[in-house]
Amino acid sequence: MDFDRYDRIRPIRWQGNLLSLLDQRKLPFVVEYIDCVDSQAVTQAIRDLVVRGAPAIGIAAAYGVVLAGLKVDAHDGSEALAAMMPAIDELNASRPTAVNLMWAIARMRRVLAAAGRDWREVAEREARAIESEDLAANRHMGRLGAELIAPNSGVLTHCNTGSLATAGFGTALGVIRAGVALERIARVYASETRPWLQGARLTVWELLQDGIPATLIADAAGAHLMKTGAVQWLVVGADRICANGDTANKIGTYTHAIAARHHGVKVMVVAPSSTVDMATAQGSDIHIEERDGAELLSMSGVRTVADGVSAFNPVFDVTPAGLIDALVTEKGVILAPDADKMRACFR
Ligand code: MRU
Repeated sequence: MDFDRYDRIRPIRWQGNLLSLLDQRKLPFVVEYIDCVDSQAVTQAIRDLVVRGAPAIGIAAAYGVVLAGLKVDAHDGSEALAAMMPAIDELNASRPTAVNLMWAIARMRRVLAAAGRDWREVAEREARAIESEDLAANRHMGRLGAELIAPNSGVLTHCNTGSLATAGFGTALGVIRAGVALERIARVYASETRPWLQGARLTVWELLQDGIPATLIADAAGAHLMKTGAVQWLVVGADRICANGDTANKIGTYTHAIAARHHGVKVMVVAPSSTVDMATAQGSDIHIEERDGAELLSMSGVRTVADGVSAFNPVFDVTPAGLIDALVTEKGVILAPDADKMRACFR
């Protein structure tokens, strides 16, 4: 399979002493990278959704730790770690739901704690490894997931889970890329993903760059689309997968999953094992991020709702394991995930 033909975008570019991030707030009409020269800038970029998507924020945070190290003079890794702790804690708290962020920071902490005089090189090597392992996992998952899909199928995806949300290729979008390349997927639909419009602004643009035609639908059109028989799979990513298989993902995923079950459409969750959180027992234990209501009250900075109205803006929801037909990670496929199957795969 010619992966590169369907995978041209890179949201994160490590430049040795700074981190360039594709500013996803400005897509699709402005393609611009911003340069982060310190960890505080990376923290801010994660908070503001300059960089977003669970794996991508983990990778960015890992490079943020490397940047924090540029300001520190220390004889070994544990001394450096102690000096960097406030910056690392800030990075760790930049967004609450996607566990890849905490996973990447924990990995950086671990290698730094064990490093000697060469701690800077050790940290940079680890951040690069986190990035390259993510790309490799995505390509592997792409093939695993695509093989579950029968030829001439239609798929619906939600949010953006593509190259823009990862080191490259994407998770759910990786399956869609691979499924198109393997001629299994004949129709791709993307829901717009109110209020931040990851589907409308990012996913259909990203697919267009790689020559994959996709059709945009309103979030509320998902059930109707399924009823027409146009889609056989809902293929989505994840921000945190619990020990019992419950999965947090972008708000609206749960609604699509309920509609999918009602209409006999299969649900596939695609995520690297860095998204699996065996320390969280079930979905109700996940901290669901709530963002500023302003995201709902205006569009492109123009207020669309009467003054004085307030908004509730949870940006993730939890799809219970019972609604998931296949969980695809780089470790393999789990059909109908539950606590026993999760434990057997991710101890
Ligand atoms: O708020 P975002 O845009 O960071 O949310 C992203 C999602 O919910 C994605 O679906 C998820 O992180 C998987 S990305 C490969």
